[in-house]
Amino acid sequence: MFETLKAQPADKILDLVQAYREDPRDTKIDLGVGVYKDASGNTPVMRAVKAAEQRIWESQDTKVYTGLAGDPAYADAMAALVLGDAVPRGSVAAAATPGGTGAVRQAFELVRMANPKARVFVSDPTWPNHLSILSYLGMEVVNYRYFDSDTGGVNFDGMIEDLKTAKKGDVVLLHGCCHNPTGANLNSAEWDAVIEVLQSTGAVPMIDIAYQGFGDGLEADAAATRKVASSVPECLIAASCSKNFGIYRERTGILMLVASEAAQGLNQATLAFLNRQNYSFPPDHGARIVSTILTDDELKADWMAELEDVRNAMLALREQLAGELQRLSGSDRFGFLAQHRGMFSRLGTTPDKVEALREKHGIYMVGDSRMNIAGLNQNSVPILARAIIDVGI
Ligand code: LMR
Repeated sequence: MFETLKAQPADKILDLVQAYREDPRDTKIDLGVGVYKDASGNTPVMRAVKAAEQRIWESQDTKVYTGLAGDPAYADAMAALVLGDAVPRGSVAAAATPGGTGAVRQAFELVRMANPKARVFVSDPTWPNHLSILSYLGMEVVNYRYFDSDTGGVNFDGMIEDLKTAKKGDVVLLHGCCHNPTGANLNSAEWDAVIEVLQSTGAVPMIDIAYQGFGDGLEADAAATRKVASSVPECLIAASCSKNFGIYRERTGILMLVASEAAQGLNQATLAFLNRQNYSFPPDHGARIVSTILTDDELKADWMAELEDVRNAMLALREQLAGELQRLSGSDRFGFLAQHRGMFSRLGTTPDKVEALREKHGIYMVGDSRMNIAGLNQNSVPILARAIIDVGI
């Protein structure tokens, strides 16, 4: 029967990882997949993560199952990290998931379960895997305008106009901070305007927050999510710990459904049910690392300090790259690179220029010209800047 299988579309981000590995040039630069790298190109285990793992190893005396929704201590810690005190804890149903992608997948399934006709509004562009999962689930996608490649910023008027066409029963997928793939984000007044549209249309917001702490800081990066969650009757949040805790392979994420306190029991049971259908109990090791860190003042302070170093290192690279390009191009047209936040920036150029960067200079970025800023270091920034000018971007 399996001869009926058809080749599935390749994942553009993961394909690039392979192509980079196979490139023999030792001058090559990897700006592909969203993984943080330090100045020496390593992705170290964070200090607090190591310490938490040691504590877990020393104190854990069983590997028996946790709950279907994961360890409640993890849900509490993550609800506090993402939502602060924006909404009562009693209004949040939460389930641990395998990574942020697991949370996204469960969220879409939940939407489909609640309303099989729901349309999911996604930014143009959005993380390609959002589209891939939605298509796999057979759900209807509507694009809303988002990135303006002339300015490198957000086409806000277009976005609002498109969001106004959403209806009750639809879902609007928003990136809580550090938009992936563009790096262009809404300011606080723009978020207020989006909230007004959500309130007037009755569409349910779903916030994907995978880079909290990588943009303007842990609290600032959660501000929009908190504002949305406290302003509408229902809200979905898919959060990831892959990047801000650097625990990519531990697959640590969480899905939160914020609704009325009266609905919390049913919502919690539904999230647990969905986990059971897909993989039963969610992975625990990463979740336990996170809750160990977030519930210990010393570990939390150390984690926050290291995360802040990571964030500042990326900001410094942005400034350096924008400065270098200004010098070489004699114009400010790359200034948006310093304004963008998070791990990524979209250069806003054509696939053939992206290919020229790869062929001629061994610089790997996603075909839509998304660069992982954390793939750079002080020495490679001038090389990238010269290559960008050389291929005529
Ligand atoms: C990315 O966008 O590069 C990351 O979110 C990693 C992934 O799974 O695609």
